[in-house]
Amino acid sequence: MYLCICNAIREDDFRQLARRCTGSAEDIYAKLGKTPICGQCLDEAEGLLHAIRETDALLERVLAG
Ligand code: FES
Repeated sequence: MYLCICNAIREDDFRQLARRCTGSAEDIYAKLGKTPICGQCLDEAEGLLHAIRETDALLERVLAG
């Protein structure tokens, strides 16, 4: 499934990079060599980024005991 149609960024690719990188959705796009074009995907991308980081932080807390 594509997260960004303009740049053909797949949600899975965005997720994998988001777990290894800091910064905003646009920063993740830049690491993929892309820049937003229409910008319609950015709210969804930021929401996905927030959810990924919240989930990872929760998992770290659970695993730390
Ligand atoms: S859908 Fe991502 S910039 Fe247009």
